[in-house]
Amino acid sequence: MELAFAERYELYRQEIEQYLNSLFEEEPHWADLYASMRYSVLAGGKRIRPVLTLEFARLAGMDWHDAVPVACALELVHTYSLIHDDLPCMDDDDLRRGKPTNHKVYGETLAVLAGDALQAEAYRLILTAPGLKAEQRAECALILAGASGADGMVAGQVLDTLHAPKTEQELTEVHRLKTGAMIAGACRLGVAAADAKEAFHQAAAEYGYQLGMAFQIRDDMLDVIGNADEFGKPIGSDREEGKVTFPDLLGLEGCERAVLDCTERAKSAVAPWDEDGFLAELADSLTNRMK
Ligand code: IPE
Ligand code: IPE
Ligand code: MG
Ligand code: MG
Ligand code: MG
Repeated sequence: MELAFAERYELYRQEIEQYLNSLFEEEPHWADLYASMRYSVLAGGKRIRPVLTLEFARLAGMDWHDAVPVACALELVHTYSLIHDDLPCMDDDDLRRGKPTNHKVYGETLAVLAGDALQAEAYRLILTAPGLKAEQRAECALILAGASGADGMVAGQVLDTLHAPKTEQELTEVHRLKTGAMIAGACRLGVAAADAKEAFHQAAAEYGYQLGMAFQIRDDMLDVIGNADEFGKPIGSDREEGKVTFPDLLGLEGCERAVLDCTERAKSAVAPWDEDGFLAELADSLTNRMK
């Protein structure tokens, strides 16, 4: 059945929410940890990354329902990265997904540990995913490790917070690592879960990196022109932390053009596979997002 973009996004999103909501429901006597994990996981993110995993799995020919655990695994790692990103030693922010940040509610110790646990639990989800063969599970675990690890998201966070990037080249590298790697990883997870061909992996990675660039430039713009109620995060956080961002280098209009350029590159990378244009519509819809 052909579904319109918004309907399909909503269908994926509901499955993702339902699955995430089934996690960490038990009440051991360290249930404060579970509560802290669930607080951030269920705080209402846009779920762009797991939606991408499911759409790539579908396009690669599998029943996308079988890719839900893998999609949610990456969302757990993404959520851990946000909890840690907001800590006083990082961006020191007190609003996330429209709610007080994890450490504001649960304290820094539990915020660090909730992030640690989410990361490990993500691999459990992949390694026990019912619909996948052992080989697909292993490949998915490797993709998530690469996207989030020492040469992926965490490397980007190190450069962003400790290396004071200033030039366009340096900022591009930061965005590619801290944001592009995880979005590309989300796309590639869908392809890997479906055990599809190498050419589709390359297209998925290119789409994800270009979309990630556009996404992070837009995020930097919203840190200037956004509205905290809608954005769900504080405005002006980057400036307060003394960061140089794309709006400083290119101006807001230059950023708008860069977002559109990256979006076009993303769309053309997957054009031969994007049967009914879902990936193109998703990319377009993010160019002028306000949240
Ligand atoms: C926030 O990602 C971190 C960035 C890479 C800018 P999202 O904007 O996808 O955040 P959620 O998951 O919707 O809260
Ligand atoms: C992306 O950068 C953060 C991660 C990789 C977790 P930001 O620091 O700009 O993200 P936000 O604006 O806090 O969501
Ligand atoms: Mg940050
Ligand atoms: Mg931040
Ligand atoms: Mg930001």
